[in-house]
Parts: sequence; structure tokens; C-alpha cells
Amino acid sequence: MDLQDTSRRILELKAEKNATILAHYYQEAAIQDVADVIGDSLYLARQATRVKEDILIMAGVSFMAETVKILNPHKKVLLPDTSAGCSLADSCSPQEFGKFIQQYPDHLVVSYVNCSAEIKAMSDLVCTSSNAVEVIRSVPEDQPVIFAPDRNLGRYLIRQTGRDLLLWDGACMVHEAFSIDKLLELYRMYPASRIIAHPESEEHILKTASYVGSTAGMLDYVKRHDSGQFIVATEAGILYQMQKEVPNAKLIPAPVQKDNSCACSECSHMKVNTLEKLYLCLKNETPEMNIEEDIRQKALLPIVRMLELSEN
Ligand code: 13P
Ligand code: SF4
Repeated sequence: MDLQDTSRRILELKAEKNATILAHYYQEAAIQDVADVIGDSLYLARQATRVKEDILIMAGVSFMAETVKILNPHKKVLLPDTSAGCSLADSCSPQEFGKFIQQYPDHLVVSYVNCSAEIKAMSDLVCTSSNAVEVIRSVPEDQPVIFAPDRNLGRYLIRQTGRDLLLWDGACMVHEAFSIDKLLELYRMYPASRIIAHPESEEHILKTASYVGSTAGMLDYVKRHDSGQFIVATEAGILYQMQKEVPNAKLIPAPVQKDNSCACSECSHMKVNTLEKLYLCLKNETPEMNIEEDIRQKALLPIVRMLELSEN
């Protein structure tokens, strides 16, 4: 089947099986085009609590499918390829993290949603890049906080909130690959452009940015400044939706280090999902995401607290 036939079959199967496709902005264009819901991590998590269909397909990475399952234990949650992991989530193993937090029993544990269900189960609060500042500000000032797993987002939160967070030393390989020298070189070529960046990027990249925020936040920023030029420091998949929604904008992907094996800022984990795998997943209703009930219940609490904290 060619791409068009595969897309058509996906739309037919979706209707036949009463299924919904949730897709992250980093998914390939063909997947975004057949999705019912496209969004950042927060929006996808929230929509996962609202959709009525029996089968939910999470076109994204494992931690996103886990979040959907945690929120929908009685629905069938599918992920096109279970090898879709996350370098950031992998940088925080439950065993090591468990030992770490035991050393600081008086600390509240706030975890970034890009972590495994086991880490969420050890957390008091979860946040995403959309609401991280709000979540940290919701914690009383005299309460010591551990923030995990992203050190870059953690440092950004320290700068934004003035809080002294104890950070886990994890990072995303995609966002750490941006080159500041090449970025400045590019900016000199497009001096009228605005740099926009995801907070998983390193501090020197964030310092150059006119806007720092989640993928949905970056998209909104571009919409508000229609027809401008933007250097976009996050995974390149977002450019597809940005260009679609803001056709007048000139979008330039931020450059990565010279010695990086990948020429652009692509997340290899996100990109293991393909339209073909999405079709097979819907057709065969597998692979299915399942989570041990004890872990699921513990992980649910900090996610629900987060959703209650940032209502929209
Ligand atoms: P968002 O919170 O913007 O969806 O980011 C998720 C992510 O994986 C960034 O690398
Ligand atoms: Fe994980 Fe980074 Fe890929 Fe986002 S871009 S899913 S944080 S590896």
C-alpha cells in the first residue's frame, strides 16, 4: 500500500473500531495528518481523560502511552512500536532514583512527565514543560524539592522561580545536541529572526531565546507573531504543524553539533513510529500498553494533582 492507501485504511479502521489516535508534534507528518488529537505532552494527557472511544492509540513514545494508560485503565491503549523510548526517561532508573530520594526524606519529589511510570509512582507531583513553573510555584517556599529527571529544565525552573531545587542529572540527547556556535552563526545570517527554544535545551541556548516553552507554547508564539522568521530549537517534527498553521512564517530548524550523526534535531525514538506501523497496530490491536496495577495507582495520584493544578 502507498501512503495514501495506508492513511485511508487507518481512517476506515478508526471508525470501524471506535478508536482515537493521539499524536505528539514530533511524529512524522503522515501520522499527524491522520490523528484526531495533536498536541504537547500536557494537552495529550488532558485529552486522554476526555476522549470517549474504546481504543486509544498513542503515536508518541512509551512514557506518553504509559500516561494514557494510567489515566484510562479500562481502555485498550496501543503504541505503534514499543521500542519508542526516551533518552531522558532512560537517564533515570527507578532503582537509582529510589536510592537517591531515600537520602532526602524531607524533600517533595516533582517529576517531569518524561519519565517512567515507576518514577511517577515515587513522585508527589508531575509536571510537563507547559506547566512546570506553575507546578513548582504551587509548592510552599519552605518545602525542599527534588526535581527529576531533566537537569536543563530543572536549571531553567531554578532561574524562573528562584527556588533551590535538588536536581537529578538527566538530559535529552536531542535537545542537548544543539550547537551554540552554529546557532549564533545562523542568527547572524537571519538577524530579524526570533529564536524559540524548548526548556530541555541547555542554558546557553535558552539565553539566546526570545521565547522558551513547550512545543504547544512555541506553536502559539509563532501564531502570535505571524509572518516572522523563527529559529526553532526543538525536535524538527514541530515544524510541520507550525508551517501548516502559520504558512507565512519562515521556520528555520536550530542547528546541531557538527559531529552529531543526525543532520537535524530528530528524535530517533519518536521517529520509530511510522504510518505503516500505526496501521498494523490499529488493525491487529497490538502492541498494547499495560502497567502493573500497584504502580499505576501510585503514578495516577501525582498526574491527577498536576491536571487539577493547571486546569486548561
Ligand atoms: P512537550 O512537553 O513540549 O510535549 O515536550 C515533550 C518532549 O518530549 C520534549 O522533548
Ligand atoms: Fe525524549 Fe528527547 Fe525524544 Fe523528547 S525529544 S521524547 S525528551 S528523547
